[in-house]
Amino acid sequence: MKKYLLSLVALVANVRGHTNHSFPANFIFGAATASYQVEGAWNHEGKGVNIWDTLTHDHPDFMTDLSNGDIAANSYFKYKEDVQLLKKIGANFYRFSVSWSRILPTGQTNVINQAGVDYYNNLINELLANGIEPMVTIFHWDLPQPLQDLGGMTNKFIVDIFVDYARVLFVHFGDRVKWWITFNEPAVFSIGYTTARGFAPSVNAPGIGNYLAVHSILLAHAKTYHMYRREFWAKQQGNMSLALNSRWFEPKTNSTEDVQSAQRAIQFYLGLYAHPIFSQEGDYPKLVKDRIAQKSLDEGFFRSRLPKFTKEQISHIRGTFDFFGLNHYTTSLTTVGNTENQGPSLEADVWAQRLFDRSWKETGDPSRKVVPWGFRKLLNWIKNEYNNPPVFITENGVSDPTEFNDTLRIHYYTHYLNEMLNAMFQDGCNVIGYAAWSLIDNFEWNSGYTQRFGLFHVNFTDPERTRTAKESSRVYAEIIRTRQIPARHFHSASQD
Ligand code: NOJ
Repeated sequence: MKKYLLSLVALVANVRGHTNHSFPANFIFGAATASYQVEGAWNHEGKGVNIWDTLTHDHPDFMTDLSNGDIAANSYFKYKEDVQLLKKIGANFYRFSVSWSRILPTGQTNVINQAGVDYYNNLINELLANGIEPMVTIFHWDLPQPLQDLGGMTNKFIVDIFVDYARVLFVHFGDRVKWWITFNEPAVFSIGYTTARGFAPSVNAPGIGNYLAVHSILLAHAKTYHMYRREFWAKQQGNMSLALNSRWFEPKTNSTEDVQSAQRAIQFYLGLYAHPIFSQEGDYPKLVKDRIAQKSLDEGFFRSRLPKFTKEQISHIRGTFDFFGLNHYTTSLTTVGNTENQGPSLEADVWAQRLFDRSWKETGDPSRKVVPWGFRKLLNWIKNEYNNPPVFITENGVSDPTEFNDTLRIHYYTHYLNEMLNAMFQDGCNVIGYAAWSLIDNFEWNSGYTQRFGLFHVNFTDPERTRTAKESSRVYAEIIRTRQIPARHFHSASQD
């Protein structure tokens, strides 16, 4: 009897934290991938070369396992199978990206590769035939090499070139695509302009190249949004935004210094990209502008390393969204200082170190830990900072090396979704959709194939690139089907 009572007490304690809320009827679930990470077929049927082809071929040593995306998960040939995987989990939508070089091999509209257009038409039609909506990312980092040769995102003429590319996509696919993401994670992509040895294009201009890139990206996003509204919206009526990534930043202690370091971190790592679009007043956050301007002058520059928007540009960019696309993975503690780059750099501008609490559960990726409550705090921050916009979770997921019985991933998804429901029902955050990253294991950039994020396992040594369901795909399917998070996964929630 005593034993029985004890286990009952334990059971109640175990499910503590589990919410009984159900997902609203119109809430949509899906899964995400990106062209370079899954497609392969890097030089098939007229595709041009992009900056990730160049980086992986010229500098294989930049990738942990010396790998590349030449074949990746071979989705160019296996897209029908991928659609069946989506169907298996009951996905309402599939977020994928278009390879710019596959559609426009030169990067510009003088050459349109019909085979590329056919590929995405086939994929979109296959999705729709299976009752799955396409959500298309226009740019997920694989910039055409000929455009990089002109300076890439740091060349301000990229704005019009991007708008032309986007127009080609609206013309060819806009009749069927109702969800558009212009840019994926400008904060991460622009790191490619801060170091000679890392992300493509690997341009060594820290604290300069990244800010120039972001400036063009924001202008290109806004110009595309207005062009779509003007030329296509009346007929196509799609939704558009961009996908911004952010951790939650929790002050290490409640000292003023630590609290301010967390405020700087969120404004530099998220506000820099979000404030111009989602805030009432537009433009970069004041805190960010002031810090970079002051540091630039101290360093001997005649002007801020962060370019200025004109008044017209500020109002042109402000409000160019139909929802807030958010990619979220983890949380950091912050304190003052910077252990990385001491010269002009984003890190030195932010002056906030990012740390982990030792008790947080580890993942397969040393730069990320499992901190579900941080997700809820971030959603609340967005709600308060940007007047409660509709938020679409365009990515959330975890690296778990386990091949099939991926209990870490199950723990991650159930606990993060649980906190998302708390944010929605207890705090009034307006979350409208959720994409798991990722549908299948894929090429994880500089980590190559050493990190696995998929709901489905891909065997990268098998020429067939065979896909096999992981346990997490079954749990995710159950969540989508029941519209609830199963309570049985809330055992050792104490540290979360
Ligand atoms: C962010 C990126 O958008 C995606 O390409 C990447 O694979 C995942 N997060 C996981 O790191």
